[in-house]
Amino acid sequence: MKRRSFLLGSAALAAVGAYALYRGQGIDAASLSGRPQLKFPTLMDTSISGRFKLKAMAGKTDFGGGRSGVTAGFNQSHLGPVVKMRPGTVQASVENQLEMPVSSHWHGLVVPGEFDGGPHQAIASGDSWQPELPINQAPCTAWYHTHIHGATATGVYAGLAGGIIVSDGRDDERGLPSTYGEDDLFLILQDKRFSADGQMIYSRDMMSQMHGFTGDTVLVNGQVGSVAIVPKSVVRLRLLNGSNARIFRLSFDDGQPMHLVATDGGYLPEPKPIDQLQLSPGERAEVLVDFSNSEAAMLVSAPDPNAGMGGMMGRMQNAISGLGLPFEVVAFAIDDRLDKRINKVPAKLGGDVPNLRNSAFVQERRLSLDMGMGGGMMGSAMAINGRAFEEKTINLRANLGTVEKWTVSASMLAHPFHIHGVSFQVLSENGNASRPENQGWKDTVLVNQEVELLVRFDQLAADSAPFMYHCHILEHEDAGMMGQFVVG
Ligand code: C2O
Ligand code: CU
Ligand code: CU
Repeated sequence: MKRRSFLLGSAALAAVGAYALYRGQGIDAASLSGRPQLKFPTLMDTSISGRFKLKAMAGKTDFGGGRSGVTAGFNQSHLGPVVKMRPGTVQASVENQLEMPVSSHWHGLVVPGEFDGGPHQAIASGDSWQPELPINQAPCTAWYHTHIHGATATGVYAGLAGGIIVSDGRDDERGLPSTYGEDDLFLILQDKRFSADGQMIYSRDMMSQMHGFTGDTVLVNGQVGSVAIVPKSVVRLRLLNGSNARIFRLSFDDGQPMHLVATDGGYLPEPKPIDQLQLSPGERAEVLVDFSNSEAAMLVSAPDPNAGMGGMMGRMQNAISGLGLPFEVVAFAIDDRLDKRINKVPAKLGGDVPNLRNSAFVQERRLSLDMGMGGGMMGSAMAINGRAFEEKTINLRANLGTVEKWTVSASMLAHPFHIHGVSFQVLSENGNASRPENQGWKDTVLVNQEVELLVRFDQLAADSAPFMYHCHILEHEDAGMMGQFVVG
């Protein structure tokens, strides 16, 4: 049977307010009726044509639950299609129908600097950009988003982002679910803030500058309070944290494990059961969930470790105020009538173990993610190694085909650190072995004090089209916590 909206009730959601706290009351199918059914972005499969077209446009969006906003998206009013690509050359076309410049950075595609879509490839209003993407990497979940310096936070918040699936078409051999929207679900996790009358708002108040902007409502694929209808079988979730600043720590309310199968850069050698998944802005993870013994389930998140006045103090305050409770991310209702394609978690995936430990690194660098206090008294407010981003300054030079060791440190808050155009291995976190979700290939990692990375430079980037490295809290990035490097 085809997916049907059997749970799609008419009841409106509860009134506008803070995001739904999850109080551990347990979830059953009946308690989910009345929630809107989660929809998935349109799949744009380029496997045969080898081409796709995106148009940045403005619009108005109804997020459900009485909430709406003035938004932007690719090919639609908010967010964009999921673009599926096979290895080979993929011809992209990005047209800008907005009144401001946008770009389309392919976050997670390892392509040369000139096709990367960063701040140096801005598309002026009314113009278009035709990069030819040489896709030569392992299957993975990636994404695209605007990346105009100083306007990334507002652009992504408005909706200028979408998903990418790189596929080699061999998931049946791996025993992995791969039917898009049925047992292979793309989930874009974001948060937004709404006014009392349900209008989407954004603000650059002091707190949002310091911590990054977090919302009061969680949205999945741009929808509020929805339920995903899934088969009574193994289901794959492609989780993307597309929020400006919120760090999710995801788990299932009934304690069932998630089987981690892929990190940013693709498959692990074998699935790894985990109880909690930390996903910071920019990161992706693919997990399998076995719903064969469930009727309903709730994916919840622990509070953002950066919430409150920062660090330990914030954590204590949250515990006191009740904000320390987990909150709902998305509900699942299991429909026994849907096709059960995959009934067990595969034993092996065939992914490649990062092995850069064995290659000699040619350079060691230290990068500190700096947050100055008091508006410039200690140098620039947001910077890396004391220097804020400057469009004309190349901060680092690397050599093609080499490996470097980067020690990245952060104080005050946890910062998601992202590097364009490379794959890296997380060697250690605060002197310890990396957490399970950081053991595969990565391009973004949460730095909570210090991480050591082994970075492999596989793509060229000239001075005219350098790669970026930056904090993926978009307010920090826009304020200068970003640098650029060339690979030659
Ligand atoms: Cu997801 Cu430089 O970006
Ligand atoms: Cu990127
Ligand atoms: Cu940051």
